[in-house]
Amino acid sequence: MDGLQPARPIIEIRDIHMSFHVNARTVTVFDGFSYAIPERSFLSIIGPSGCGKSTLLRLIAGLERPTGGDIVFDGRSIDAPPKGMIYVFQQYAKSIFPWRTVYQNIEFGLRAQKKVGRDEARAKCLDYVKLVGLEGYEDYYPAQLSGGMQQRVAIARALIGEPKVLLMDEPFSALDAMTRAILQELLLKIWQTIPITILFVTHDVDEAVFLSGKIIALGRAPAVLREEVTVDLPYPRDQIGTRSDPRFTAIQQRLFANIFLQEKSLAGA
Ligand SMILES: Nc1ncnc2c1ncn2[C@@H]1O[C@H](COP(=O)(O)OP(=O)(O)O)[C@@H](O)[C@H]1O
Ligand SMILES: [Mg+2]
Repeated sequence: MDGLQPARPIIEIRDIHMSFHVNARTVTVFDGFSYAIPERSFLSIIGPSGCGKSTLLRLIAGLERPTGGDIVFDGRSIDAPPKGMIYVFQQYAKSIFPWRTVYQNIEFGLRAQKKVGRDEARAKCLDYVKLVGLEGYEDYYPAQLSGGMQQRVAIARALIGEPKVLLMDEPFSALDAMTRAILQELLLKIWQTIPITILFVTHDVDEAVFLSGKIIALGRAPAVLREEVTVDLPYPRDQIGTRSDPRFTAIQQRLFANIFLQEKSLAGA
C-alpha cells in the first residue's frame, strides 16, 4: 500500500462484549473491545492462547453473535455470515473436500457467485490455480498433495469468490518451517495482487512482523488491546531481504519481549 489514500475502515468493532457460559461458570472474553480495521490492510492479531483471537474472528465472520456491542462490515451491522468475507482454517483439511480434485475444490468456491458461463468459470478457476502456484496439479486429490499444497487449494477456493475480507486463523501453524516461509511470501504476493483486507491470527511473532502492516497484541481474557504496532517495513517483502532488515529484528524483539514477559509473569515464573 502506498499510504496515500485515506484508508476507510472496512470493519469496525464497536464496544463488543462476549461471554460464554460453561458449566454454571461465565467466561468473559470481551468486555468492551473496540477496533477499526482499514480497508486493504494486512492486520495480524497475536496474543496468548485462550485470550480470544479465534472468538474475535468468529464474531467478525458472523459465525457467532456478541453478547453486547456491534461489529460493522462495509457499513452494515453483522448479524449473519456476510457475503464478502471468507474464513480459512488452520486445519486445511476442514476447508477442502477430500473427494474433489484441486480443480473441483477451487471451482466449488464459485458456487456463491452469480452464474457465469462454463468457459468463463473454467478460465477463472485456472487463474486461481495459477495464483496459488498449483499448475499441473489440477487433477490431484487432496490426499495426493502435501499440507502446504492443500492449504494453497484452500486459499484459492476462498479467494475465487472475490471476498473483500479474508479471515485466517493460524493457517500455517501445522506446516513445517520452510513450507510456512514459502506460503507467507505467497500470501503477501496475493495480497498485493488482489484488493483484499487480510486479518491474520497467529501466535508466531516473526510471522506477524513479516506479513503485517499492523499488529495488535491482545492480553488475556477479557481481552484488552495491549499493544498496537505499525510495521514500518516496505512491501514487497521477501524472506531473505526483509528478515535481514534491522527494523525487522527491532520490532520482532520488542514485541516478543513484551509478550514473553507478560506470559512469564502470568505463569508465576
Ligand atoms: N464456544 C465456546 N464455549 C465456551 N467457551 C468458549 C467457546 N469459545 C471460546 N471459549 C472460551 O473463550 C476463551 C477464548 O477462546 P479462543 O477465542 O479460542 O482463544 P484463542 O484463539 O486466543 O486461543 C477461552 O477461555 C475459551 O475457553
Ligand atoms: Mg484460537
